[in-house]
Amino acid sequence: MVAKRSCIIIGNWKMHKTIEEAEAFVNGLLTSYSPSDHKKIGLAVPYTAIYPLRQLVSSSSILSIGAQNMNDASEGAFTGEIAGTMLKEAGAEFVILGHSERRRLYAEDNACINKKMKRAIETGLRPILCVGETEEELASRQTEKVIELQLREGLKDLNAIDLRDLVIAYEPVWAIGTGNPASPAVAQATHQFCRRIIANLLSLEFAEQTVIQYGGSINAANAQILLAQSDIDGLLIGGASLSLATFLHIINQHYAKLSPEE
Ligand code: PGA
Repeated sequence: MVAKRSCIIIGNWKMHKTIEEAEAFVNGLLTSYSPSDHKKIGLAVPYTAIYPLRQLVSSSSILSIGAQNMNDASEGAFTGEIAGTMLKEAGAEFVILGHSERRRLYAEDNACINKKMKRAIETGLRPILCVGETEEELASRQTEKVIELQLREGLKDLNAIDLRDLVIAYEPVWAIGTGNPASPAVAQATHQFCRRIIANLLSLEFAEQTVIQYGGSINAANAQILLAQSDIDGLLIGGASLSLATFLHIINQHYAKLSPEE
């Protein structure tokens, strides 16, 4: 019998929140939320907030703090970039790689993301690999082809031991920040497809245990129905994670502990 997969819900703050705002959010979260299940909630925060937030959460094991990007080199003359070791030292436990905003706005291709995956794993950061098709790719029925390539190239030369902490986030680009999420049926079908590709690349057993999150226009009204799909094992939440009340509402709904608080 295969062990049940974890459900991991992560807020992706993108370029939002000063240290002061981030601390106020996390203090509020720590006082309003007491889950039975540890380390299943995470926040991917701006680099500047990683260290102060880890100071706040260090005495609790409720919340993981992570980063949204990193460079693939260990160090060097890369003005403005940040190394995995620096994130790790600051207290990051995970890093989002290959988010569509990085792919689109900063020209990150699958080969670049694969190098970052390798560096993150070597550094001991849990990688969250984002995949997903654009609106044009959806319209021209390329979804499966695009996602297969993103998985195949993103995970290239990595084995099941390297990837034991892997999280995949399926984020259709057309759903991000648009208020137009994938329907539960479409999201479920694409998650199933991702799992099939992971099974081909690694093994069926590995694929059955891989956490695959959904991301794209999640809100308090649609989170539960998406999480109810059998192959959706968590959420990567952008805009709706910026409001403490909404984030609490989503995690409390799911973990059924406390009622949401402002
Ligand atoms: P969204 O963003 O929830 O605001 O659509 C999700 C993401 O980009 O991770």
